[in-house]
This record gives sequence, structure tokens and C-alpha cells, in this order.
Amino acid sequence: MSNAPLNQDQLKRLVAEAALEHVEDGGTIGVGTGSTVNCFIDALAASRIRIEAAVSSSEATSERLRGHGIRVIDLNQCGGLDLYVDGADEFDPHRRLIKGGGGALTREKIVAAASQKFVCIVDESKRVRVLGKFPLPVEVIPMARSLVARKLAGLGGQPEWREGFTTDNGNWILDVHNLDLVDPVAVESLINDMPGVVTCGLFARRPADLVLIGGPQGVTRL
Ligand code: 5RP
Repeated sequence: MSNAPLNQDQLKRLVAEAALEHVEDGGTIGVGTGSTVNCFIDALAASRIRIEAAVSSSEATSERLRGHGIRVIDLNQCGGLDLYVDGADEFDPHRRLIKGGGGALTREKIVAAASQKFVCIVDESKRVRVLGKFPLPVEVIPMARSLVARKLAGLGGQPEWREGFTTDNGNWILDVHNLDLVDPVAVESLINDMPGVVTCGLFARRPADLVLIGGPQGVTRL
């Protein structure tokens, strides 16, 4: 067997498989979006676990789940969820996250809010001491794009329109560079309060409950 360090794809598969131990047979779970979550969906389908249904955070995830024969239901069809599994673009030592690199932040935030337990699956490259190296995605109502961009610039950030990209909700994304996120809870509230903002990709008011991190030593927990 080779002793070569695992590459990023292998780390994603490793951490995705580790998340399976949180999934109960017969349960209904929330499922996030992204390449790490895709590994989780594939691992779930290949496992012996048979869930009742999933609530999905994006059209892409719904398609992948259905492709594996996993039933996808609307959040309105279920009271609440025990578990939400999703990736992240960054995590800090307090399990606060930046999400939305894939543009699914609003539905991700809704499903996370509906779930008792949020298990975040990441590889070591996503670890930071202070959030903000990754540009913060902000979903905006299209007519408010430049208004919100000016307000974000007023906070010291450099918003960049993710041109050509429309979210599953029919909205647009501003990726904000160089924001000061030393107090991410305050910034999350400040941005979410701007008229025209649907939500921002900070998951600080509702952080992950558990972060599983795939690294050279295997999977560690935070
Ligand atoms: C999508 C997200 C993803 O969780 C995030 O972008 C991480 O993706 P990946 O697992 O592909 O690195 O927030 O909106």
C-alpha cells in the first residue's frame, strides 16, 4: 500500500464516510451542497443505511439524491430534522463558517435552521483562525445589487458580482472580499438587515454543532 499523503478528493471522501455514523436508519435528514456533500451522498447510497427521505439544499443535490433512488421531500412536508450534513468554504475554532461558494447559501441556512444537529464536513484546507480569507457570498434580490454593493463597500468590503450566476431562488450573488470578520455574529446580522439582501454566507449565529475535518492524520472532530 502507498504511503503517499491523501489528496483533497480522498480527504473529502474520508470525511464524508465519517459523517455516516451520525445518520440513522429510517430517518429524514437535511443534505447540503458541494463536492464534499456529493461524496457524502455517494457514500450514503453505497452504505447499508436506508433513510426515509432527504430535504435538499439545492437543485443539484436533489438531482444527485434522486439519481441514487433517495426520496427528496420539501421542508414543509416535515416538522423538523434531526440532522443536517453540509460542507463549508471556511471554518474557525468556534465552528463558525463561511458558506455559499456553490451559491446555495440561502437554502443551506434554512435547512440548517430546521435541524437539531448540523454536522459540517470539510478537509483541512478550510481551517482558518479568523473567517474572511474566502470572499463572503451574499445573495441579493437582483434589483438591489448595486445598492447592496455600495452598502457592503461602506463596511469596508470589496463586493464582486458573480456575473452570469443565478441562484436556485432566482437571485444574484455578490462575493465580498476583505471584510473584517473578527466579530462574525455582528457582521452576519448587519448584512442580513440590509434591504435587498436575502442572506449572507456567514453561519455564525447558528454555527455547526460538529465539524469533521479530513486531514493527513485521518478525521478529527471540532
Ligand atoms: C455551497 C457551499 C459548500 O458547502 C461549500 O462551497 C463547500 O463546497 P465543497 O465541498 O465543494 O468544497 O456552501 O453553497
